[in-house]
Order: sequence, then structure tokens, then C-alpha cells
Amino acid sequence: MEANELARLLGPDWASAGGDRRGENLARRVGLALRTLITSGLLAPGARLPSERQLAAALSVSRPTITAAIDELKSQGLVSSRQGSGTWVTPREHVSITVPTMAEVVLIDRGINLAAATPPDPSHLGPLTIDLGDLMSVTPGHGYDPLGISTLRTRIAARYKLLGVSSTPEQILVTPGAHGALALCLGALVGTNERVIVESHTYGGILDLLSKHNVVPVAVRRDQHGIVPDDLDRLITRNRARIVYMMPSVHAPTGATTSLLRLSELATVLDHHEMVVICDEALAELTLDGTDPPRLAGLCNTASVIDVGSLSKIAWGGLRIGWIRSPDELRTTLVHHRSHLELGSSAPSQLLAMQIFDRLGELRESRRVFLGEKASMLQALIAQTLPDWTVHRPAGGLCLWVRLPTPDARPFVLAAAQQGVAVMAGSTATPGHGPDPHVRICFDRTTNELEEGTKRLGLAWRSDEAGSRARMKSW
Ligand SMILES: Cc1ncc(COP(=O)(O)O)c(C=O)c1O
Repeated sequence: MEANELARLLGPDWASAGGDRRGENLARRVGLALRTLITSGLLAPGARLPSERQLAAALSVSRPTITAAIDELKSQGLVSSRQGSGTWVTPREHVSITVPTMAEVVLIDRGINLAAATPPDPSHLGPLTIDLGDLMSVTPGHGYDPLGISTLRTRIAARYKLLGVSSTPEQILVTPGAHGALALCLGALVGTNERVIVESHTYGGILDLLSKHNVVPVAVRRDQHGIVPDDLDRLITRNRARIVYMMPSVHAPTGATTSLLRLSELATVLDHHEMVVICDEALAELTLDGTDPPRLAGLCNTASVIDVGSLSKIAWGGLRIGWIRSPDELRTTLVHHRSHLELGSSAPSQLLAMQIFDRLGELRESRRVFLGEKASMLQALIAQTLPDWTVHRPAGGLCLWVRLPTPDARPFVLAAAQQGVAVMAGSTATPGHGPDPHVRICFDRTTNELEEGTKRLGLAWRSDEAGSRARMKSW
């Protein structure tokens, strides 16, 4: 590939792509920008890089800067080189993905991954440090802490208090992400032949977990304000359900929030049935207007609300830091179950999590501005390229939930994969995994990836025979 072509792919904002990187040295920024091109497939496996001299000239940086950046990519196995033969993108082994569990959605590593609802990397976090002295002062010497480091639990409890949900550190359990928290809750609480109520579109990962427990999910209807209270009431009674899993603060995959009025109506129904509610708030810190959505736990009296939270979306999934805020009556059950399951979460990650909590306000604001811009950008790109798709601006989260003029988006998702862009089919988020006309597209990506990704989606839409046939059926 020519150096100028590569510079064009990197775009003019390569030095700051993915967030504010003022603290990093230039070689690292070049390396990160190239890495994004490689992992997104814009630089295809096997593609030859221009010479270091040419690349240095095209990016207006020194040759040693490029050498250092390429060395870093080599150490990560992303590029390979041989004396006299130059440098090329390391070919990847073909991984075939047939069943889209959530783990498989995040593992997609061919093409541009707009399917995984995750920050692409941790570069927006700025400097974080692991100081051995700090580590030793917050953990017991051996580093095992099954409940989670108490200083971190204190920080998490304080955040809930600020949100109007009275909490003590004893109620908090640190877990490997929100997904780990959900696995723990289901393992501790779900019985055989139990029916668990979930929303008609829900987090695909909960469906994976429920199927592992042989639990049939029962779908409760949502309208534009959230779960429909009468429907919830009826389904609880009809199924003799004890457990509801829901995302009232910022809903996945739609990005909708629930008004205080609707939440109060839901709290009345949940209290009436004395339900156990697993309230997934993994996206709650990511409203695009910066407001804090009302929390169900602050409104319920006789229902037992378990809050599940995470730093994965506001900060980075690789931290694997999530938590449970358990109501007093379920604390012993959850702690007991955890003690049979694992010996605690990573102490270094928890230390980093404390630093993130110290700057939560600042991080929320920078994420809000960045994600707001990217949401508008992707919306505009789709309106231009795919005018027959229906897109609404989400209230929060990092994805657009898009309705296609077809009864089932799955054939299109396959066509898109062939064009080298991954989006998540609505079926992944539907109990029963039946046909669904939606796709979820993550906008927490670089401008280049969004532009190129939308271009490829347009090609896929036009080439997708199943889609064309469906469109002709005047859907
Ligand atoms: C609603 C929801 N819950 C839980 C998770 C899992 O997040 P974590 O990385 O914290 O395990 C996700 C991430 O995709 C999510 O969107």
C-alpha cells in the first residue's frame, strides 16, 4: 500500500482518534492509529506497509517514531517483517462464528466490528497507574478478597447514595464485569423449571446465561416509555414468576430511558408481587444528555432489587470490573454462592477502578460529548447512505438501534459480514431468537470506521438478495 493511501485511511485526526491522547508519546499514537486500522480490517491481513521512510514523510513524523510504532505492533503480533521483504499485516486464522452468543459478538475480529457495544480501547482513560505500595495498602497481602476491595466497595456505595439509593459497602460485591454479576445472580437465585421475565428486546448475554440454566425467558412488552406495567402484572401472575431481569435506566439494545412516572408504576407492580428484580445498569452512566436516570431500587419497598453495574461501557471492558448492590435480604445468598464460585476479582483492576471512580464526573462528561458527536455522525451517515432505514437518536448508550424495511435483518447481517462489517442482528436480543427487523450498530468508533463501515453496509444492503426480495414485499 502507498504511504499516501495509508495516510488517507488514517485520516487527519489520527493523532487524537479514540479520545484525548495528549499524555502519550508520538510513536505510541502512531502505533494505536495503525492498530485500529488493522483490527478493523481497513488494513487487510497480508497488506504490505509502505517503507518506514515513506510513512514518516506521509505522516510528517520522524523515522525513529515510525520504527518504534512498528516495533510495538510487531510485539503485539499485528504486523510481521523479514529482512529485505518489508513489513505486512499478520494474516489471521479464520474463525467461523455460527451462533452469535454475546462472547462471540465481542470476539469478531475480521472486518469492522460495529456489533460489539464496547469502547474500542482504553485510550480515552488517560494515565492510570498501578503502584505496588498502593496495591499492598488496599488488599490483604495475598491479594484475595472475595467481596472486593473495601475502598472500592465504599466508592461504589457512595455513588448509589448520590443517586438516592441508600447503600453500604457491605451491600456491594465486586464481580468480573456486569456479565459475571448476572451469572452470579442467576446461579444463586434461579431454580429448575423457573420462568424469568425479560424485556421483549433485551441484553443478548442474559439470554445466553438463561439458556445455560435451561430457563425459559418470558418476554414482557415494551412501548416507547419502557416496560408496559399491565403486561408485566399479567405475565408475573400467569407464569408464577419470581424473578424479573430489566434495564430501566438505559436499556440495551434500544438506548431508551424510563421516565420516573413509568418507573413508579412498574415499582408498584413489582412491590405488589414481592418480586426479585435484577436491574442491569451497565449503561446507566452513559445518558447523552448527562442526566442520571431514576433508579428503581430507590422506588421499591417490598420488591428486592439487585442492582448490577459495570465500568465496561464508561471506561473499558478489559478491566472486567462490575458489581452487585444487593438488598440486605439477599446478601447472604449471593455472598455464599460467590464463595463457591471464585476467590475474588483482580486486585490491580480494582485499584484502577478506584482511580476511575475518582474522576467519574470528568469521564462521564468527556464520554457524553464524544458519544453524542459519534451518534449524530452515524445517524447522518445512515440517513445519507441508507435513507429507507429508520433511526431514532438514543437517550443513552453507545449504539444505534435501527429498524430495516425487512421482516428479518439476519440475511442482511450475513451480507454485511461478507462486505467486512459486523453489526448485531436484532434476533440476538430477542427471547427465542426469532426473526427481527432491527440491527444494533455501535458508534463508539473512529470516524474512519463509521464512514467506511456505513459504506460497506450500503454495499451489503444493495447486494443482499434476501433483503431486496423482502423490500419488494412492501413491508
Ligand atoms: C446491558 C448489558 N449488561 C451487561 C453487559 C456486560 O458487560 P460487562 O463487560 O461489564 O460484563 C453488557 C455489555 O455488553 C450490556 O450491554
